[in-house]
Formats: sequence, C-alpha cells, structure tokens
Amino acid sequence: MKYKIIEFNPKEAPDDFWESYFEFTEANFRYHYPDNSMLNREAVIQRQKANIPNYYVKRWLAFTPEDKIVGWAGFGAITETSSEFKVNKHLCKLNIAVLHDYQRMGIGTSLLKVCVQEALSLNRTVIETGAEHDSGRAFLKKHGAELTIESAENRLELKDVDWTLMQTWVNEGPKRAEGVIIESFYECPEAILNEYCEMFTEALNMQPLGDSEFRSNIDGKLRRQTEQQYRDTGYTNYTLISREKDGKISGLTDFFYDSRDSYKILQNLTGVRPEFRGRGLGKWLKAKMILHIKDTYPDVERIITGNAEANAPMNSINKRMGFKKHKAAESYKFQVEETAKKLGI
Ligand SMILES: CC(C)(COP(=O)(O)OP(=O)(O)OC[C@H]1O[C@@H](n2cnc3c(N)ncnc32)[C@H](O)[C@@H]1OP(=O)(O)O)[C@@H](O)C(=O)NCCC(=O)NCCS
Repeated sequence: MKYKIIEFNPKEAPDDFWESYFEFTEANFRYHYPDNSMLNREAVIQRQKANIPNYYVKRWLAFTPEDKIVGWAGFGAITETSSEFKVNKHLCKLNIAVLHDYQRMGIGTSLLKVCVQEALSLNRTVIETGAEHDSGRAFLKKHGAELTIESAENRLELKDVDWTLMQTWVNEGPKRAEGVIIESFYECPEAILNEYCEMFTEALNMQPLGDSEFRSNIDGKLRRQTEQQYRDTGYTNYTLISREKDGKISGLTDFFYDSRDSYKILQNLTGVRPEFRGRGLGKWLKAKMILHIKDTYPDVERIITGNAEANAPMNSINKRMGFKKHKAAESYKFQVEETAKKLGI
C-alpha cells in the first residue's frame, strides 16, 4: 500500500482536522486498551497544542492515499535552555504507533527513519523509547533496540483498599518517625523550592533505572515552568512531603488529576532519602495521600502508577495497598549511528 508521511503541527491544525485525528487515535486506543474509558477529546487537543518547555518536539502522521490517518510518530529532545540538558545532551526520545490493520507494511519503519534523521541532525547519539505491546516489542527488537529496564503499569481499584490498614499506617507514622511532620502543596512554596527540587531530582535518580541513560536534574526555574505546563494542560499536581525535626525534607509523594477524566488518578513519584528509610515514612506518605484522594475526589475509582519491576520497596508498599500488575512495559534504547546505518540513512 502507498502511504505518505507528513509533519504535523497541532497548533496550526484547522478545527476540521481533529475529527480524522481522533478517528485514528481512538481506533488505536480501543484496540490496545479495550477496557479503558476513552480519553477526553478536549483534554487531548489541549495537550497536543500546549507548549512543552525546554523540548524540541516534532510529530508526523502517516496517511493512506484516501487521506486516512493510520500512523503517528512523536520525537522529543531536551534543549539547551533546560537544567537537564547537560546530563542528557546525547539523548532524545520517540514514540511510534501504526493502526493494527496497517501494520507490517513498513509504515512503522518509515516513521522510525524520520525520527533517526532528526536525531542525527541534532547530534543525539541515543534514542530512548518504550513498549507495552507485543507488536512494539517485536518491532524494536527487529530494529536492534536494546532492552534497558523492565517495568509495569500497576493499578489500584479504590473499592479494594483496606481503609483500616491505611489509617493504621497514618497513625503509626508520627510514632515511628518522631518529630516528623507532613506538609502539602500544589505549587512548591518559594521558601523550599531549591531544597525540594534537589530532593525530587534525587528521588527520580535513585529509582532503579537499569540501562536507561536519562538522568533528572530539576532546578527551580524548570519546576516553575513545569508547574505552568500542568496548568496549561488541565492537570492538578498535588504533593506531600515529610520534613524532619530540623526542617530537612526526607520524603515525598505526588499525583496528577484531571477533572475531565475524573475516574482516575495518576500516582507519580514516591521517594524517601536513604538516611531516613526504615521508619515507615513511605507508608505514611502513601496512606495519607490515598485518604486525601478518597476525601477530595469522590469520583476517583482507580489509581494508576508505573514502577520498575526491580523496585522492591515500592512494589512491596504498593502490593500491601492493593495495587495489582495490569500490564508489563519495558524501556529500550537505540544507538543512533548504528540504527541509521541499518536503515540505509
Ligand atoms: C511498533 C509498530 C509502530 C510497528 O509498525 P509497523 O508499521 O507494523 O512496522 P513495520 O511494518 O515497519 O515493521 C517492521 C518489522 O518489525 C517487526 N514487527 C513489527 N510488528 C510485528 C509483530 N506484530 N510481530 C512480529 N514482528 C513484528 C517485523 O520484523 C517487521 O518486518 P516484517 O513485517 O518485514 O517482518 C506497531 O506495531 C504499533 O503501533 N505497535 C503498538 C505501539 C508500540 O508498541 N510502539 C512501540 C515503538 S515506540
């Protein structure tokens, strides 16, 4: 089958374009996630059009001769404006999807080629990506991507939570970690901005990362830009931190919520600094957070999170909360030069 690949800029897309876009994305979503509620269209358009600070972003669509959209690729690379540039300047990332009925026709490979060309033009040497479907795994293997880490999407149905146990963890918290207090915020208070960014960065980088090469380095400016991006895309981001007697931040947990997809919460990062571990802080933070979710968002039915399979402490807490593995997912990386050679670029 003949197809054409065209760069796509959501900000310039006319209003009547979106119907054909959703025909593609929703068919793809229904195929891969038949049990999930469809994403809110307004939220999708808002996120597609939003500025992504400090990222060079490109997107392409694959069209049939009848102008039906059957494939998509997204490419991103951190720009020099970011505090994360220095440690990740050799990296970029991609995501490719092709409608089930149009797979094995070379469209995915053509989309990979345009991404690799982009990586070469930016002098990036490694492309990182992920897969959670067998077709993607086979495609990445065929093109020589290396597995970097195994992870999973884990889910907690709120109806399954043992609320008495959650209250016990909250009650035990101040007894086991004497003098510690828990504070909350949506936007990080200016007074703790730098310390919080340092802690958040540390927590991101101390997760098991396998052979993934991306490393976080969030400073106050980047945090503020990210908070603006959450506002621009309709997300509420809520954080709990634990502070020691001397004021030092020892742990954190945060989540994302969008009232347009009000049945779910996306649990983000949880971390306790190594010197403060073994005193029930992780359980206290997570239990306090889930009680807050129950009280604040009565429509929420499910909490979704992603964890490395090798993250024993986090998976142990999650399991006791009632999280269950929903789907395996892995991360991969391509060596750009090698891949370009193989693709004949
Ligand atoms: C991954 C994906 C984009 C590939 O799209 P595609 O158009 O089918 O890719 P191609 O036709 O260029 O496939 C290239 C090669 O990958 C391998 N491959 C792709 N899909 C495969 C499958 N389901 N089973 C076995 N091998 C497969 C094959 O070797 C294929 O070559 P061949 O058909 O000549 O044997 C598509 O399967 C998809 O959308 N999957 C879900 C999304 C995803 O997992 N993306 C991960 C990459 S970021």
